[in-house]
Amino acid sequence: MHDELISIRDLRVSFVSDAGVARVLDGVDLAMRTGEIRGLVGESGCGKTTLARAILGILPRDAARIESGTIHFQGADLLHLPEDRLAGEVRGRKIAYIPQDPSTAFNPVFTIGTQILDLLRFKSPLLEQKELGTRARRQRDLARVQEYLRLVQLPNPETVLEKYPHEVSGGQRQRLMIAMALLTEPRLVIADEPTTALDVTVQAQILKLLKELARDQGVAVLFTTHDLGAAYEICDRITVMYAGQEVEEAPVGAFFERPSHPYTRKLLDSLPSSAAAIRGIAGEIPRLIDPPPGCRFHPRCERASDACRSVRPAPSLVEPDHVVRCHHPLHETETVA
Ligand SMILES: Nc1ncnc2c1ncn2[C@@H]1O[C@H](COP(=O)(O)OP(=O)(O)OP(=O)(O)O)[C@@H](O)[C@H]1O
Ligand SMILES: [Mg+2]
Repeated sequence: MHDELISIRDLRVSFVSDAGVARVLDGVDLAMRTGEIRGLVGESGCGKTTLARAILGILPRDAARIESGTIHFQGADLLHLPEDRLAGEVRGRKIAYIPQDPSTAFNPVFTIGTQILDLLRFKSPLLEQKELGTRARRQRDLARVQEYLRLVQLPNPETVLEKYPHEVSGGQRQRLMIAMALLTEPRLVIADEPTTALDVTVQAQILKLLKELARDQGVAVLFTTHDLGAAYEICDRITVMYAGQEVEEAPVGAFFERPSHPYTRKLLDSLPSSAAAIRGIAGEIPRLIDPPPGCRFHPRCERASDACRSVRPAPSLVEPDHVVRCHHPLHETETVA
């Protein structure tokens, strides 16, 4: 695909502990185009944060093991890029991260201004303009910080830099996280449940803001969430994960109107209205130390056959841009060429 930004193929990640080896990502395929907003949805524990951390190269070193796969981003294979290049050029620069819990993202002992300017010492896009002296760069960076604080609509952009993280509200901290993520002019922002800690009205404002800013700047967003209503509001396409396997990927309209995987159908049926979080569906997600073979959803699926119990389904097309991995999808499909 000519405008492909990131392409993840057959990614397998395990966590090793005394209890055994948990196969947390089981051959995940996911590709995103430049500027697209992708929702990554699924129940708690299905591997959304693990996938985000694998892309950023920040899986816990002692516990996580990458078993196989590739992550190509703008032509580079991130899984084989030396750590200094990953740290210098990719993480927090071309790929920015808005973590699940913003309260841990700020250091409580430094002011917000100190932390933002510290980030820019290493990650400023102006560092690429080698002719710019340090002082001139710092001045321009400071002007850019002010511009971004206005863009994220913080109430007092002039004074917020003087404050400590605990002196601003959760919603304001989240706006600051968005400003910091965009300041480095990334091509991809990974927003890991960026609004779960916030109340519903603030959530809606922040998601709208993230969407508008990403659109204006042509930045792609990988937005992980439990919340199908939030995914509906901001995403172009949605990928559904179940127990470490991606099972369906569709444009947002087709996702809600013509879900093709029985798990997606159940997720949608579990919604009391279109704007609600995923609630429980019958059965439990499997233990990943001893996961079911084949399609991991088969123990909870009424359509399951012997094939589902032994072989993971290959991707097939419901429509040209709608992919499902199911032996018995709800709509007719064609094999991917
Ligand atoms: N550091 C770790 N050590 C061992 N197991 C881990 C570790 N981090 C995650 N896991 C396991 O990996 C699986 C996937 O976790 P992950 O956090 O990626 O899920 P998630 O989809 O982000 O869930 P949530 O919606 O709750 O954020 C879970 O079974 C979890 O227990
Ligand atoms: Mg998570």
